[in-house]
This record gives sequence, C-alpha cells and structure tokens, in this order.
Amino acid sequence: MHQDVSEILFSEQDIAERVADIGAAITRDYKELAGPAGIVVVCVLRGAAMYTCDLIRAIDMPLEVDFMAVSSYGSGVKSSGVVRILKDLSSDIHGKHVVIAEDILDSGLTLSYLIKNLESRGPASISVATLLRKNTPNQADVNCRYVGFTCPDKFIVGYGLDYAEHYRNLPYIGVLKPEIYQ
Ligand code: XMP
Ligand code: MG
Repeated sequence: MHQDVSEILFSEQDIAERVADIGAAITRDYKELAGPAGIVVVCVLRGAAMYTCDLIRAIDMPLEVDFMAVSSYGSGVKSSGVVRILKDLSSDIHGKHVVIAEDILDSGLTLSYLIKNLESRGPASISVATLLRKNTPNQADVNCRYVGFTCPDKFIVGYGLDYAEHYRNLPYIGVLKPEIYQ
C-alpha cells in the first residue's frame, strides 16, 4: 500500500466486479431503448478516465464515448461551488441517450451543473453512472441511476482520483492520510 494512504477501501478486484455490474446494468437498460444508434458515454475528465475505459468495455451494445473536462476544485480538497468547462464535448448529443460517467459525487455541485448543462442540448435522455458516492452532509439531490460504491466523507484517491494530480495511478481506491493535505 502507498505510504500516503491510510486504508484501502476498494481493491482492484472489488472495482473490476462493480464496474462489470454497472456495465451489465447499462446494457440491460439501454440496448433495446437506444437501438443501433447506441448511447453516448460522457467521461468527466480527468478523474473518471480510468473508470470510463473499464466501464465501456463492460457495456455490450453500440456506444460513442466523448469527454468533458470541468473544474470545481482547483488543486485543493474542497469544492469551490463554481464549475467551469475546461473542455467541451466534441460531438452534438441532441437526440442521443447520454450516460455520464463520473468518478465521485461529493457536494453534488459538479453533477448538478453538468446535468443542467447537458439537458439544455436536447438529448433523448440523461443518466448518471458514478463510481463513488460520498456520504457528504447536505449533498445536492442528484439522481444517480448507477452507483458503484458509497464511501465515507474522507478524501479518496486512486483509480483515477487524485490529490494535486498525484495518486491517479494507484490500482485501488483508498483514503489519503489527512496530514498530506492539511
Ligand atoms: P462535487 O463536490 O462537485 O465534487 O460533487 C465532485 C468532483 O470533486 C472531486 N472530488 C474528489 N476527488 N478525491 C478526489 O480525488 C475525493 O475524495 C473527491 N471528492 C470530490 C472529483 O473530481 C469530482 O468530480
Ligand atoms: Mg480531482
């Protein structure tokens, strides 16, 4: 285990199993509904990149993958509440069935903003597949159709999640020692 991590919450195998479950659920829910056009999986960069790569390989139906980068955190550990689009989607989602792949739902501000923003583009539908949902007090009411794991209100790193751009390459999800960011 990395010396800056106090505890492993979800092992590489735990993650692989949950991601396979989510992929199977998405396939079940959308295969007929979306037909040959398939779905658009929107990866929220950068945290959800690793998750999205694994998730799309667990979905057995036609799909496009597109990427969006938003920022609500800077390099710190608290959401600023202000969401900026750093990179927009490359394709038009009008009339498409969209599944947002997000790494973690914390305050809920990022996803609330994203859903509203993408809804304004006239997709056929939008759902959210978040890998993690944090037990955060006063979390915004975000409808997540697919949730991988719920996790404690601690700072989490690994499997794409970072602190100041580090730890994304850890194959597991763990708790960052508070002394690293305090
Ligand atoms: P909100 O508060 O808007 O936050 O729901 C969502 C975004 O904040 C990042 N985030 C984290 N990143 N460990 C991380 O590495 C965490 O514990 C954590 N909590 C929130 C994440 O980028 C997410 O998209
Ligand atoms: Mg981050």
